[in-house]
Amino acid sequence: MAEAEEKNRVVEAKFVAGATSPDGLPPPALAEIAFAGRSNVGKSSLMNALMQRRSLVRTSNTPGRTREINVFYARLADGLALNLVDLPGYGFAKVSKAEKRAWAPMLEGYLASRPTLRAVVLLVDVRRGVEDDDRELVDFVARGRKADANKPPETILVATKLDKIALNKQKPELLKIRNAAKVPVIGFSAETGEGRDALFSRIRAAL
Ligand code: GTP
Ligand code: MG
Repeated sequence: MAEAEEKNRVVEAKFVAGATSPDGLPPPALAEIAFAGRSNVGKSSLMNALMQRRSLVRTSNTPGRTREINVFYARLADGLALNLVDLPGYGFAKVSKAEKRAWAPMLEGYLASRPTLRAVVLLVDVRRGVEDDDRELVDFVARGRKADANKPPETILVATKLDKIALNKQKPELLKIRNAAKVPVIGFSAETGEGRDALFSRIRAAL
């Protein structure tokens, strides 16, 4: 594992842009990996853990915090450079209908037409598994691609907040999520960094 750790060390990480509509994004150039999931699931925390920065991406106890598409740039020790994209969380009941109407097209527009998007990392809480909102997103990513865009990005399923359940429950819970979703799942903890190298392997394979 030490070898993977070294090559996945982040030597540069920075904020690139925040956009409230796909037009506000930087022109597509570098390969991108987007992070999606329900509000409060831990997207921003996972991105900080990936980039090995404590608070480059703003996290919060208030669900629905990330309301823009935020683009970050990261360069790894082996030279790999990519953009990591924090998407607004969905499924948060207290967000007003007007706000939801404003976000949905932004999120869908990005997912459907960003030509450099290689993978969507879908985060689910290990204690909740894949829910209806998540399934809608997966279907959208697979089918909502515009005809002129590249092939649909792949979806990488991650179960986060692994540290919140007892050690002896972790494997069985992950297996349950895997069997229900019928795709592999990576267990992750932003607290301990567990799952970071496994996630980078999947990301590298998708680029
Ligand atoms: P929105 O931007 O609102 O959609 O939320 P988000 O998905 O970006 O979640 P965020 O990373 O802001 O985390 C929400 C809360 O969960 C924060 O209080 C984090 O500290 C906590 N959290 C996130 N990941 C983990 C984890 O792996 N373990 C533990 N124990 N807490 C976590
Ligand atoms: Mg966030």
